[in-house]
Amino acid sequence: MKALVIYDSVFGNTEKIAQAIGTSLGAQVLRVGDVKPEHLNGLTVLIVGSPTQAFQPLKPIKAFLKTLPSGSLKGVRVAGFDTRADVQEVNSRILTLFVKLFGYAAEPIAVRLVKKGGTQALPPAGFFVNGKEGPLKDGELERAAAWARQIQS
Ligand SMILES: Cc1cc2nc3c(=O)[nH]c(=O)nc-3n(C[C@H](O)[C@H](O)[C@H](O)COP(=O)(O)O)c2cc1C
Repeated sequence: MKALVIYDSVFGNTEKIAQAIGTSLGAQVLRVGDVKPEHLNGLTVLIVGSPTQAFQPLKPIKAFLKTLPSGSLKGVRVAGFDTRADVQEVNSRILTLFVKLFGYAAEPIAVRLVKKGGTQALPPAGFFVNGKEGPLKDGELERAAAWARQIQS
């Protein structure tokens, strides 16, 4: 299995999740800005993660997914993840409604990976941070590692 985890991160939380996933799979982990086309050669597993900002992935992640050639992920098992704030903590009805309507980053990442030919190997997953900047909530690194390990079974 040649696995790659690609992420972006503003405050470092998504990077920590990406590293935990990489360790659990024995996968290479790269920040999106460091990815070169040759990194994608011969991949069997590709996992992409982003912080959720304004209900979406960050721009560099969206741009990366857009530039992947059509059909380039054929035969690759793919999954998307995000980090996100805990809406219940904010306790705002409007925000809860917006989240219901617009969601989080993981789902659109997964959709785009499949659009490029990938086969979804895991349901999209979100990992929680405290407040806006983190740190990660307790147990999220372990949950991320366990989520990723299911890809092997
Ligand atoms: C400008 C901004 C917008 C955000 N929008 C959302 C959002 O729509 N939904 C959400 O769950 N969290 C939101 N957050 C919280 C981020 O998801 C959180 O900062 C991120 O998970 C931290 O990951 P990072 O440390 O890798 O940057 C927002 C944070 C910022 C700074």
